[in-house]
Amino acid sequence: MKREIIVTKDGSHTVAIPEMNVTYHSHHGAIQESMHVFIETGLVYLLSQPEQQKTQLRIFEMGFGTGLNAFLTAIEGEKRKAHIYYTAVEKYPLSVVEANSLNYQLVLGQQDLFERLHHCPWGVDHTINKYFTLRKEQTDILSFTAQESFHLVYFDAFAPSAQPELWTEDVFRKLFDIMVEGGVLVTYCSKGSVRRAMQAAGFVVTKLAGPPGKREIVRAVKTPQRH
Ligand SMILES: C[S@@+](CC[C@H](N)C(=O)[O-])C[C@H]1O[C@@H](n2cnc3c(N)ncnc32)[C@H](O)[C@@H]1O
Repeated sequence: MKREIIVTKDGSHTVAIPEMNVTYHSHHGAIQESMHVFIETGLVYLLSQPEQQKTQLRIFEMGFGTGLNAFLTAIEGEKRKAHIYYTAVEKYPLSVVEANSLNYQLVLGQQDLFERLHHCPWGVDHTINKYFTLRKEQTDILSFTAQESFHLVYFDAFAPSAQPELWTEDVFRKLFDIMVEGGVLVTYCSKGSVRRAMQAAGFVVTKLAGPPGKREIVRAVKTPQRH
């Protein structure tokens, strides 16, 4: 399927797949959306919890795509001196030419970091810097088997209208099962059917204000079981 790089309203790039009528990020601003949904609502929220401050944070991302979420996470993690182990699955990786054409490193600086995220090999743990270890898996999330449990999940599939098979109770239960108690899942979609699927999988779901162009987003928590 043909992919095109387009400019969003905050000046940052995203990728569009016209045939599927989808983009990798909001037209209102790719960096703006990722910062709001994944970094502020997920990473910063979790790092502000006292019990999270000493341990290495394990993050799982559904859909590595442009690497923007990983890039922003590595930048934020270093700023906060947080050690992060980041696993991302991606079924259809961008080519090196596509990744090199994105303007995130021009907007945010840290060109070397962005390149390392894209150029490191798939299927192995790779130390990006003192704070950030990356494992990229080229696989379908439906067949992914986790080797560890996660504190934070970035659920960044294409919209339910394009990929209904990924926004199901089964997929959310699979994620629930690989998360630690108190773990957090964040996503940009707050559709009723999606929230119900998350609740059926066991999450406590909260709607929160979205970034410009999006009324609400979701934070879903795997609340600790009472024993
Ligand atoms: C909305 S885009 C987000 C990408 C990425 N998080 C970013 O910031 O660029 C969705 C991503 O999920 C990937 N994807 C779609 N279906 C998948 C599947 N079944 N398993 C793994 N990745 C998938 C797509 O190729 C795409 O890169």
